[in-house]
Amino acid sequence: MRQFNPTLECAKALDAADPMAGFRDRFYVQEGIIYMDGNSLGLMSKDAEQEVYKILDLWKTRGIGIWSTPGEGGIPHIDYPDILARGLAPLIGCDADEITVTNSTTINIHQAVATFYHPTPERYKILMDDLNFPTDHYAVQSQLALHGYDPADALKLVRSPDGKLIDEDAVIEAMTDDVALVLLPAVLYRSAQLINMERLAAAARERGIVIGFDLCHSIGSVPHNLKAVDADFAIWCNYKYLNGGPGAIAGLYINRKHFERIPGLTGWHGNRADTKFELRLDFEHEKRASGWQTGTQPLLSMAPLNGALKIYGETSMATVREKSLNLTAYMMYLIDEKLTKYGFSVGNPRDDAVRGGHVALEHEDAIRINEAIKAAGIVPDFRFPNVIRLAPIAFYTSYEDVYEMIERIVKIMEDKEYEKYENKIGTVA
Ligand SMILES: Cc1ncc(COP(=O)(O)O)c(C=O)c1O
Repeated sequence: MRQFNPTLECAKALDAADPMAGFRDRFYVQEGIIYMDGNSLGLMSKDAEQEVYKILDLWKTRGIGIWSTPGEGGIPHIDYPDILARGLAPLIGCDADEITVTNSTTINIHQAVATFYHPTPERYKILMDDLNFPTDHYAVQSQLALHGYDPADALKLVRSPDGKLIDEDAVIEAMTDDVALVLLPAVLYRSAQLINMERLAAAARERGIVIGFDLCHSIGSVPHNLKAVDADFAIWCNYKYLNGGPGAIAGLYINRKHFERIPGLTGWHGNRADTKFELRLDFEHEKRASGWQTGTQPLLSMAPLNGALKIYGETSMATVREKSLNLTAYMMYLIDEKLTKYGFSVGNPRDDAVRGGHVALEHEDAIRINEAIKAAGIVPDFRFPNVIRLAPIAFYTSYEDVYEMIERIVKIMEDKEYEKYENKIGTVA
């Protein structure tokens, strides 16, 4: 049972007892700025910066020899995604050879759907919810079109009953005989609902349906056990909770039971490692997740992720999750105590078991309030039409940050500072 009270002393006591407090100094946390957008773009860590310098130096001194130079674990830089896979595997509970790091998230959705979607006249639909991030929908729509289907018919949408949460029973009910593949988010990007992947994957499996998950809003914040989930594939970005850098290279998990499959999108870096440089014209598939790579891997994009993952090797996902849940619980407590009287409400699930890593603060005047929040030195993230997403990050957000943020929002509401702003949304957050 968590015990909070609304004083600054409470925040200070929570920080003093925080076993993860020491990690904050490993990041570039800007003085006076309260960063609550680590679920869009995680902050830069000093380890990430060092790793980039290391790669730059190798390029400087060895030229093309960089590719064969052994890196961590003796793995040559040509196989750098394998180094990253070793760091990522404990975060999502699978074997390292079931992970590769390649492309963007969106392209990895294309790759996974192109690999696993083999429609027949009877079974040709792809099932999704209507709350998943748009790029997932766009990728699936274009894959359906490439197969000659009209997405209006072949994309089966399960609609949320309230526009915030997915109804898992309705998703399972929609897994009918005409469905070939299901793609769902693990944590919803707007409401932070954490879905029961194990249950949904089991339901899909029983019905002979392929299932994959988008882990963008969960990886690095919520522990996963993909061995137990036994999904067919998963995709994710590495720039949110994992702090891999703006537009960092993305992740792809292929369940080892599918290693014999031929990737939907092939390229020479997915060829068998031992014959890749023989440059034969016939593709020979490397039978592990790295067989799903396509072209030459961007070392300068992968390097910061390798650095950023170091901190995960110094703690456990259970510890990260515990702090993350405590931070969001504390934030919700302070919202209830200090902000509801100004018309704010909490739009995310409150139960630990179904809550991801951020708080969805809702207000009917959220657009203007979000602008005032930014002007007050807080970095939030706005999601249309009325959600201010606030993500306290276990590695670098303190309880005092949360306390101070709520105090600044109280002042904005008391002074009606938001009235200075237009009711119009900007570009990124
Ligand atoms: C659930 C989800 N999927 C995918 C993406 C983005 O994909 P990409 O990394 O290709 O830009 C996001 C971005 O926020 C997201 O929230």
